Amino acid sequence: MKTPIIIDTDPGIDDVIAITAALFAEELDVKLITTVGGNVGIENTTNNAVNLVDFLGKDTPVAKGADQPLLNKLVSATKVHGESGVGGYHFETKEDSVLLSSKHAVEELRDAILHSNEPVTLVPIGPLTNIALLLKMYPEVKRNIKEIVLMGGAVKGGNRTPVAEFNMFVDPHAAKIVFDERINIVMCGLDVTLQTRISTDDVKEIEGYGKVGEMVSQMLSYYDSPSSTETEMSIHDLCTIIYLTRPELFGLKRATVNVVTEGEASGCTITHYNEEGHVQVVLDVDVEEFRREFIATFKKVHEILGN
Ligand code: RIB
Ligand code: CA
Repeated sequence: MKTPIIIDTDPGIDDVIAITAALFAEELDVKLITTVGGNVGIENTTNNAVNLVDFLGKDTPVAKGADQPLLNKLVSATKVHGESGVGGYHFETKEDSVLLSSKHAVEELRDAILHSNEPVTLVPIGPLTNIALLLKMYPEVKRNIKEIVLMGGAVKGGNRTPVAEFNMFVDPHAAKIVFDERINIVMCGLDVTLQTRISTDDVKEIEGYGKVGEMVSQMLSYYDSPSSTETEMSIHDLCTIIYLTRPELFGLKRATVNVVTEGEASGCTITHYNEEGHVQVVLDVDVEEFRREFIATFKKVHEILGN
């Protein structure tokens, strides 16, 4: 039985890799992809999502969401992902793609969740603006949400400020709304994503996997994440997908997480470990197995696409 998921995303180079892995994972049924302003503006994140789904030969619907955070002004990460959001890579753009819904992401999220026969897993890998709007506007969806597996936050440190991870920093008010809800959350924060490092040798191996390998390699050659080194980089968002397909590779700890929304520590996810907490913080990962999964994913996608 496949796990029904919805990915809320701000592609974004690591988002592209995570979405690709999800779309070809036997364990997952990607019901919908919703876009949010984050790494780059909403027009580019939406175009990137539509162009990627089309490039991969899939028909997963895409719905455009919030262009700005709830209260703050959008802070983007064009330095890391390029102005387009996908580095120097150029998709063959399809005008007026049928993949793009005419409805707002929040409406599509509501419909997809309420119409699902199985409780849905939400996989936000960008700022949480759409998810917060959904929970406030349509709280009835909570009865059919299995859990939220998100990339964001950090028990220790930050990558946009010394104490805040980018997704939480961009929209701390949305993050507070989501973390304050009593929905089960699996938090793939920097504590684990900075361990899941992919080497340039791994990328070189994937380069030979046809058009999908070329795409990933071209994008990653641009990806100048704050945590990147000469020989390694963290594909942050991919952690959520490999957690869903290979949960046994990860170690978690229960906690309550409070998001700071104002002042110099805005976006900080203050983590209080306790057994009653509704947040499971991902702290450990089998790094070697994670890298093998990363390479195996793109080998499989190449074999399926055949070019
Ligand atoms: O901090 C990493 C996160 O911020 C990832 O989701 C990346 O895509 C950026 O959105
Ligand atoms: Ca992202």
